[in-house]
Amino acid sequence: MKVEFIQKDFAAMKADALVLVLTKEDVSEGKKSPSRLQSKFPADKATLESAVRGGHFTGDKGEMVTVYSLAKYPVAFLVGAGDESELTNERLRRAASAGIRAAQSAKASAVVVAAMDSVLEGTSHYEIVHSLLEGAILGAYKFDKYFTLNGKNSKVGAITVAFNSVEASIGRKAARDAQLTCEAVYLTRDLCNAPANEVYPEVLAKVAANMARKFHVHARILDEKQIRRLKMGGLLAVNSGSAKPPRFITLEYKGNPRSRHWYAVVGKGITFDSGGISLKPSAGMGEMKMDMSGAAAVIGTIQALASLKIPVNVVGLAPSTENLPGGSAYKPGDVVTTMSGITIEVDNTDAEGRIILSDALHYAKRYNPKAIIDLATLTGACVVALGHHATGMLGTSEDVMAQLKEAGEKTYERVWQLPIFEEYEKQIKSDIADVKNVGGRWAGTITAALFLKKFVGDYPWVHLDIAGTAMLEESTDYSARGSSGVGVRLLTQFFKQIASQG
Ligand code: BES
Ligand code: MN
Ligand code: ZN
Repeated sequence: MKVEFIQKDFAAMKADALVLVLTKEDVSEGKKSPSRLQSKFPADKATLESAVRGGHFTGDKGEMVTVYSLAKYPVAFLVGAGDESELTNERLRRAASAGIRAAQSAKASAVVVAAMDSVLEGTSHYEIVHSLLEGAILGAYKFDKYFTLNGKNSKVGAITVAFNSVEASIGRKAARDAQLTCEAVYLTRDLCNAPANEVYPEVLAKVAANMARKFHVHARILDEKQIRRLKMGGLLAVNSGSAKPPRFITLEYKGNPRSRHWYAVVGKGITFDSGGISLKPSAGMGEMKMDMSGAAAVIGTIQALASLKIPVNVVGLAPSTENLPGGSAYKPGDVVTTMSGITIEVDNTDAEGRIILSDALHYAKRYNPKAIIDLATLTGACVVALGHHATGMLGTSEDVMAQLKEAGEKTYERVWQLPIFEEYEKQIKSDIADVKNVGGRWAGTITAALFLKKFVGDYPWVHLDIAGTAMLEESTDYSARGSSGVGVRLLTQFFKQIASQG
């Protein structure tokens, strides 16, 4: 997809379709004078009047109206963004997404996305352009690789944002940044939406290595032999029921060579979670192809950071395996010795994410990181607690959590903190080993986090449970049903903040 900014008046341009984001103030008519919208298209007074007549389009959020032949545009989608005074980046994303989806349905290929100059007043022009494009690009996403009949669905081929009053250098930078960020989100979404027969640990690792080569990131992929040599007993135990070998992905992005400080991001890479011997019910099991969403978010984040050249040093780590009930599968009652030496009593083979993460979190200590952040589709309990609109956040660093909260609000990939009070810890006490991999019925997200905490030592650490936010049962404003790609924009924004604080 071609994405660009042009410093031009959108009313004088030409494309297959126009997506025009409007506030209520842009639409409302003065007693005698024409509205801002009308003055923009003086030759189309009647067309616009019929569009807003009767008050069915007032510029309120959620509204959209189609106008045929507006200036040189065969079709225009007027999308409401609400009150001017309440305009946010998120409203712009949502409006742009709604418009681009309509344009896509109308089979438009080249689309101009714009808003009235009034949205620029008193705000960052960079952010306005960036948000409009984020919404448009993410909203246009489709996973249609496997449809072969009836030809391909139509897809937008080029998105141009146009403002006459945005300086070209700022607009272009915003457009480029938005495109690079969204391409990383696309990569993450594609990996998660792909079926598990196509994306298994070796493939995930290959995709990570290819990304690394393209963006000058140092990748090291550990194979089964190397994983064995490192004594990653957790990863090997979960892998034992699978016919496919495991992988341990490491991606070193050194964006600030003058600094010795590293941050570690760790992602759960279960390419399919059947539950293992503690088999899951068959209804909906196919969704568990997305149980590598944490790993995919790590790969996407490293791509975003590297392509945007954010000056930070971040290592991405992703242990990857299937969780299947093969003949040599690990079993309830087994005791597993992890790389750290800590032993785990396996009470339920379906609580496998924390077991593979134990080795990855321990491995992260090699980098003496300033902080470790992990992402995992870890617990169904988190979906019960927070649904699909917030990522569960638990950790030991209030500082990092505050930064993530800020990044979450900015990107609208919101996080919500849950406690990790030590009183919960007795739920994961084992009679036979150092820790048990399940903590009973209550507070499943918290006991899972307390399990992970055992493997991070004294390093500042934050765990993000993305079980509810990574996979969507129905499409939302700019995420289609399926993978949302959550984590990429959140962590990219987080590291932008870290970089700007020096
Ligand atoms: N991958 C699942 C968690 C999950 C569930 C993610 C639903 C997304 C949607 C994880 O491996 C799992 O199976 N967790 C168990 C833990 C339990 C056995 C303690 C769960 O949540 O049921
Ligand atoms: Mn599981
Ligand atoms: Zn799982």
